[in-house]
Amino acid sequence: MAYVLSQRRVILGITGGIAAYKAAELARSLSKAGAQVQVVMTDAAKAFVTPLTLQALTGMPVRDSLLDPEAEAGMGHIELARWAELILIAPATADCLARLASGRGDDLLTTLVLATPAPVHLAPAMNQQMWAQASTQDNLATLTERGFVIHGPESGDQACGDVGFGRMSEPEALQRAVESALAPRALEGKSITITAGPTQEAIDPVRYLSNHSSGKMGYALAEAARDLGARVTLISGPTALPCPERVQRIKVVSAQEMLEASLAHLPSDAFIGCAAVADYRPVSPAEQKLKKGQNDLSQIKLIQNPDIIATIAQSDRRPKRVIGFAAETQDALAYGQKKLAEKGLDAILVNTVGDGQAFGADHNALHWCDAAGCVDLGRASKRVLAETLFQTLIKRTPL
Ligand code: C5P
Repeated sequence: MAYVLSQRRVILGITGGIAAYKAAELARSLSKAGAQVQVVMTDAAKAFVTPLTLQALTGMPVRDSLLDPEAEAGMGHIELARWAELILIAPATADCLARLASGRGDDLLTTLVLATPAPVHLAPAMNQQMWAQASTQDNLATLTERGFVIHGPESGDQACGDVGFGRMSEPEALQRAVESALAPRALEGKSITITAGPTQEAIDPVRYLSNHSSGKMGYALAEAARDLGARVTLISGPTALPCPERVQRIKVVSAQEMLEASLAHLPSDAFIGCAAVADYRPVSPAEQKLKKGQNDLSQIKLIQNPDIIATIAQSDRRPKRVIGFAAETQDALAYGQKKLAEKGLDAILVNTVGDGQAFGADHNALHWCDAAGCVDLGRASKRVLAETLFQTLIKRTPL
């Protein structure tokens, strides 16, 4: 993904904490990936790492003063604030968070933050006690609410000898965050509906039929689509997962509810059926708990559930793309292709389940199959596979 940063204009703000030495590594890797990195240091930062080091790593003279006539004559601070496509402050000290939260503009870095239209990302780093302070947490809440993007901090050993939250996120993680923030948003303005998780089909008020789906794949898809700029509706059966940020989640329990919610969200640009919908439901769930002695529990009558994705694919408000999943225990690709045709889908993601694979796991292995054939998307974390899936969708059947 390094190409994303080619010629992109990033201000790297460095404030005065011991983690400033890691900012040098970050400056180097951002530059190496092709970004134009303008480092802006506070006076305290210069006590930890020298401007000359940063200049050598980025090839650009460091800016450190609001009132430097020479630098201002080259590119004034307002111009510099407009030049930036993204500002990342790493490390951001407790004092830096406090100054940003109160809207100060008494040095170059805070002034740039006030004057920029670009997104501002912060990587806080400080002693764990300073991080835990109510004042710091209040400032953080204010900044988050105002749209600052916060990365970390991580928990672990600290330079001061303490252990706890306050370590700056690693440079590689920050680099990835910058890349993903600057990546072209290929699904900007598109609406995507995703079903996820299992469904539960009531037998009586305490029992139900269901399956082992954790919802992790569908939730990963929702996050990946959101990060590519899509408006995401996640229709979710019961799971333990938290609602992803900036995703509209509609909670459902049964297949019937999932069908109704799915139909209510038509049309959309794409519908992705990732839910493991229970194939059957009890014909008439009992109103009271069934008693072992009094009811013959071996004779619960079942009826087939509607096929949600096939209904969506045949709807007269059909989304531009309807994409399904097929979890198989054998002959996965052959069964997958059969379902592609039978359900009237544009593509189907095929995986092999059983022996701990796919259901509940954080990793998965998928094949993408469409009318033109199958491609192996490889084995990876569900989040990475979700990104690969959308890249494949964009390449093979653009929305
Ligand atoms: O037929 P099978 O359950 O293997 O098909 C899997 C695909 O169909 C998935 O995309 C799943 O979300 C969808 N499906 C559905 N409604 C059902 C059964 C499956 O939407 N009742």
